[in-house]
Amino acid sequence: MATPATRTEMTASELFALRWDRGQRDLIGPLTRLYGGVIAPETLMERTRDLLQKHWRARPADLRRLDLIRDLNPDWFLSQDMVGYVFYIDKFAGRLKNLAAHIPYLQGLGVTYAHMMPCLLPRAGQSDGGYAVKDYRRINPALGSMADFQSANLSLRAASISPCIDMVLNHTAKEHAWAQKARAGDPFYQAFYRMFDDDRLPRQYEQSLVEIFPAQAPGNFTFYPDMGKWVWTTFNEYQWDLNWENPEVFLAILDTILFLANKGVEVFRLDAVAFMWKRMGTGCQNLPEVHDILQALTQATRVAAPAVIHKAEAIVGPADLVPYLGTGRHAGRVSQLAYHNSLMVQYWSALASGDTRLMTHVLRSHFPDSFRRASFATYIRCHDDIGWAITEDDAAHIPHMSAPAHRNFLADYYAGTFTGSPARGADFQSNPATGDRRTNGSFASLAGLESALETGDRGAIDIAIARIRLGHALIASFGGIPLIYMGDELGLLNDHSYLDDPARADDGRWMHRPAMDWDKAGNLDDRGVPHTRIYHDLRHILAVRKATPQLAAHNPTQIIDSGTAGVFAFTRQGDDRGVTVLCNFTSQPQVVDIDAGQSTDLLTGDIHRAVVTLPPYGCLWLRA
Ligand code: GLC
Repeated sequence: MATPATRTEMTASELFALRWDRGQRDLIGPLTRLYGGVIAPETLMERTRDLLQKHWRARPADLRRLDLIRDLNPDWFLSQDMVGYVFYIDKFAGRLKNLAAHIPYLQGLGVTYAHMMPCLLPRAGQSDGGYAVKDYRRINPALGSMADFQSANLSLRAASISPCIDMVLNHTAKEHAWAQKARAGDPFYQAFYRMFDDDRLPRQYEQSLVEIFPAQAPGNFTFYPDMGKWVWTTFNEYQWDLNWENPEVFLAILDTILFLANKGVEVFRLDAVAFMWKRMGTGCQNLPEVHDILQALTQATRVAAPAVIHKAEAIVGPADLVPYLGTGRHAGRVSQLAYHNSLMVQYWSALASGDTRLMTHVLRSHFPDSFRRASFATYIRCHDDIGWAITEDDAAHIPHMSAPAHRNFLADYYAGTFTGSPARGADFQSNPATGDRRTNGSFASLAGLESALETGDRGAIDIAIARIRLGHALIASFGGIPLIYMGDELGLLNDHSYLDDPARADDGRWMHRPAMDWDKAGNLDDRGVPHTRIYHDLRHILAVRKATPQLAAHNPTQIIDSGTAGVFAFTRQGDDRGVTVLCNFTSQPQVVDIDAGQSTDLLTGDIHRAVVTLPPYGCLWLRA
């Protein structure tokens, strides 16, 4: 586009045209590869542009301003200032309109990013915690209205906190209008889903598929006698997988994302993205087309709402995770964030075994030091279970380790059935056919606080608190945005009350989704009690993080060998002096020779000589 050089101010439509020019080259490739066989690429590009233009025209002025600010500072989300907090609106604030009153609490912790767990209208009854969406354009009335949502987003933004919500795009609820029309026989909407007239193909696909919820939703397909069709239902029966081979699905979801972006959403957590593309004979996860879809969504969003970023939720093995942050032709072009599921699993694995060799091997051999304009969301706990994603290949690098035995050990350890384990978790989705077991439990309960409080053993309480501090110090320094899961800052324990609610009782993940404890949160002065110690540890860690530019996500993370199996170590190289992080995963002091002369631990201010002694479960951030 030619921009007249004589004019001084740029109009909104000129800005759009320039952004479309910029975005086109990163859109045409994926869209042609995905849909070139179904629709002429020029036609699809034209329809995409029209859609983007429609939403750009409707974009509120304050958000357009934010777009410009982010265009000028596209690395905003990589800053060491970024700290995420993840919560259910009802459990945190009751309703959306009460959220603003709790912003000072978030600010007190240093939060700059608020993930409001599923808040769009879910199906009635069981809804997989809101991940079965009936209407993407309505807020769950139990939480408030769209106007409440917009004003909550405004209040968050005014406090420099970026609102994040879930965008479930692998499936809709079977009650969604598209699914209802499909069920009534409308062929246009039947093509939105993956439907089969008989079970011949489903049976063939099943041969290479895994089951996600083997206990409550075995199999990946459901037969509906009224339609006479089988429908692909990877998760629960009531969650129908969308057919991403249909360009109409791409356009419809893009339309939805931009509609919500214009309501003030700044980060979309793209749910269960690994499953979006299917191919016979494969596990139908992480297929290359998924990265084309993510690039197309990210680049299209960047044209009409450049303030917005995407976070991929792909809870997959280490080798499959890296492409979600952009490799090869997708480098710098796909989702800006992805969950670091491997870091999370390795934290729990090293904590149980007191041995960081597997952690060091996995994090060093599978991951690059940094990504182009993208980074991880680091976390220790979230609303989901922990899947023990430890592969045979990785275990083979550690003397005497077998992957199935280690996975079993971890499940036993965190269920608390392994002798001497202080953890209070529970098995989830045990699958006798594969021997697979996953684990539920809150951070504090898994780390040993629940059992320590029961016995009142002060030493055990100190250990549990040190383990929690270690986890928080790890995710705050590793690189990426640390996500604090609501209540973990106060050491909230498992909550078994979900068993009384029939819509939740069959899903043990509710055990680690307790309500916020505002009594505890309002009593943070007595430094002697566990919840205040955990809170102030975390608050301090996050404050030091913000003052440490080396910890910005664009700086490389290099895993180093500490020379001691009990200590995990890495460096973050900034523009000047790097920071070396040492994490002791054992209950004993550990001595490490870091070979760097004198250094200061940024967390305590202590000066260390070349040989450093780490306290049990200690974490040091050393600057030379
Ligand atoms: C994601 C969510 C999980 C949900 C699943 C299906 O993994 O985190 O809670 O069950 O997607 O939507």
